[in-house]
Amino acid sequence: MLDVQRLSKKFHRYGMNAVMALKDVSLQVPARGVVGLVGESGSGKSTLLRSIMGLERPDEGLITFEGANLLSMTRAERRDYRRSVQMVFQDPMSCLNPRMTVGQLISEGLIVHKLLDSPTARRSKTAELMELVGLNPDDMERYPSSFSGGQRQRIAIARALAVKPRLLVCDEPVSALDVSIQAQVLNLLQDMHQELGLSILFVAHDLAVVRYLCPNIYVLNKGEIVEAGTRDEVFSNPQNPYTQQLLAAVPRPLPTASRHAHEPQRIQQ
Ligand SMILES: Nc1ncnc2c1ncn2[C@@H]1O[C@H](COP(=O)(O)OP(=O)(O)O)[C@@H](O)[C@H]1O
Ligand SMILES: [Mg+2]
Repeated sequence: MLDVQRLSKKFHRYGMNAVMALKDVSLQVPARGVVGLVGESGSGKSTLLRSIMGLERPDEGLITFEGANLLSMTRAERRDYRRSVQMVFQDPMSCLNPRMTVGQLISEGLIVHKLLDSPTARRSKTAELMELVGLNPDDMERYPSSFSGGQRQRIAIARALAVKPRLLVCDEPVSALDVSIQAQVLNLLQDMHQELGLSILFVAHDLAVVRYLCPNIYVLNKGEIVEAGTRDEVFSNPQNPYTQQLLAAVPRPLPTASRHAHEPQRIQQ
């Protein structure tokens, strides 16, 4: 579905040495796949995601989505891409306009992409989305500031899901949340993958989180992919010394899976 081939990106910084944020990075996300990308802070994770979202222009390399080259898409292809690939950020507050109600925030994409014309239809779709992500539709008129961090991330996910994306790109969506809340949001993403057939590219600096969610994992170190494989390959037989070092540093136990896990009462830590 998503194919990143030999991507490189250098940042020139005034008065300092240039940084190679990405060096020859190749990565694939299959249709209905859940792929994890793990790396320490500064390893280039956000630069890669921003390149995929078209927010950063790589120096070299190729990004294709369902066979179409991101850099040479027709207008219609680009419009489809903007809808089909949605991003969830680390800090939901930074992408949720504080002056908009939750209902407005979730339904915005429906208007932008002209998916539902009637306000009544948009309202019921919004209520449905809120229920889907475990929010109460009665809270539609409230503002994001009156929600907890975990609930805000649910709002951001509902907002992304509103336009029926095929790929969800998540940039450390749980690293700003309490560990107990992290499992709930991860379970929600897992459910969305299973129920909607959504593909997910999930970025984190925390291996435990990636292990929990992602059957396929890439490890990024200083802008380079140093390890790629299935969850089992990476965790039981890491080939690269950097991955071995990362694994040795995983201190906490993983949250356990639960089928209806986005219902908070069924969460197990
Ligand atoms: N706009 C920018 N200008 C200059 N340097 C940048 C810019 N964005 C990122 N970098 C540098 O590129 C490297 C990778 O950053 P980033 O992709 O944000 O890593 P991560 O998301 O893994 O923490 C870092 O050294 C960072 O300082
Ligand atoms: Mg980052």
